[in-house]
Amino acid sequence: MKNIAVIGTGVIGTGWILRFLANGIKVKAFDKNSRQINFLKAEITRTNLIIKKLYNTKINFKNLEIVDNIDEAVKNADLIQENVPERLSLKKDVIKNISKYSPTNAIIASSSSGLLPSDLQSKCINPKRLIVAHPFNPVYILPLVEIVKGKKTTNLYLNKAKKFYQKIKMKTLFVEKELPGFLSDRLQEALWREGLHIVNDGYASTKDLDEAITYGPGMRWALMGTFLTFHLAGGEMGMKHMLDQFGPALKLPWTKLKSPKLSKKLKEKIIKGTKQQSNNHSIKDLSNIRDNFLIDLLELKKKYKL
Ligand SMILES: NC(=O)c1ccc[n+]([C@@H]2O[C@H](COP(=O)([O-])OP(=O)(O)OC[C@H]3O[C@@H](n4cnc5c(N)ncnc54)[C@H](O)[C@@H]3O)[C@@H](O)[C@H]2O)c1
Repeated sequence: MKNIAVIGTGVIGTGWILRFLANGIKVKAFDKNSRQINFLKAEITRTNLIIKKLYNTKINFKNLEIVDNIDEAVKNADLIQENVPERLSLKKDVIKNISKYSPTNAIIASSSSGLLPSDLQSKCINPKRLIVAHPFNPVYILPLVEIVKGKKTTNLYLNKAKKFYQKIKMKTLFVEKELPGFLSDRLQEALWREGLHIVNDGYASTKDLDEAITYGPGMRWALMGTFLTFHLAGGEMGMKHMLDQFGPALKLPWTKLKSPKLSKKLKEKIIKGTKQQSNNHSIKDLSNIRDNFLIDLLELKKKYKL
């Protein structure tokens, strides 16, 4: 796995490029919108110190080639990471093109947040090499990648892909049975929907809801996740007591889950709320704060490994 192609250099494509380059891998990148390349360049500059802090290395620009079309990007690739917007029809067409111009045994990995790999395979030539490899933003720091196989994917490609992502220091989580939204996004989405309801119904601001996570459960989640955390909520009896005590609450109307309508008013509330929370920090400033915090958190996680 020496030559990687990245298709689409938005938030996620750029994050992948940074991770690949930081691991000394050669990348050919293509984006339909040539202006996106400016974003990529700005991100490489912004993360200079962050990459140094995390990987103890500098990015070698010679390893990055920006090309003008898909065929040029994928023709010698061992693995192609696809990162175009989350629309099934668009992704199917892009994957069809990738599969047409790439070596037939090159792995095609989609960064999709929740589309089923079996659907993404439908127009792919040699679909047994297509997987979903779903990362988390910022890709160059967060270790998790959900690997999902479609009906036509074979274990040969799946295992090769797993090994590759592990080699670039990722935590591979294999999703046995494909399901929309996979694992992490189903959990995130449940919280997000509930938050939208609370803002929409006027009970709390976006800041209140964010603090409800970052000073409380969010701090525990980085170490234990929901299940192990709730095991401790049951005292000496652990999960058994927790279920006896809080099981009945599952019947109370604590959550709605079906999302509210994303009305103009709700959108304005959320956009205004998050702008106020940003406290005049630019997206670039906030990204730097987040990145440095996450790197320190990774160290802390190593120290308290369970
Ligand atoms: N943003 C996130 O937090 C996140 C996290 C995990 C996974 N994802 C997934 O990653 C994928 C990309 O999301 P994003 O947030 O980076 O989107 P984005 O809008 O930031 O970037 C998408 C890029 O694809 C380019 N593009 C569009 N059509 C193209 C084509 N035909 N060929 C080449 N490039 C094309 C666009 O110009 C743009 O630069 C989606 O599938 C999304 O679900 C996003």
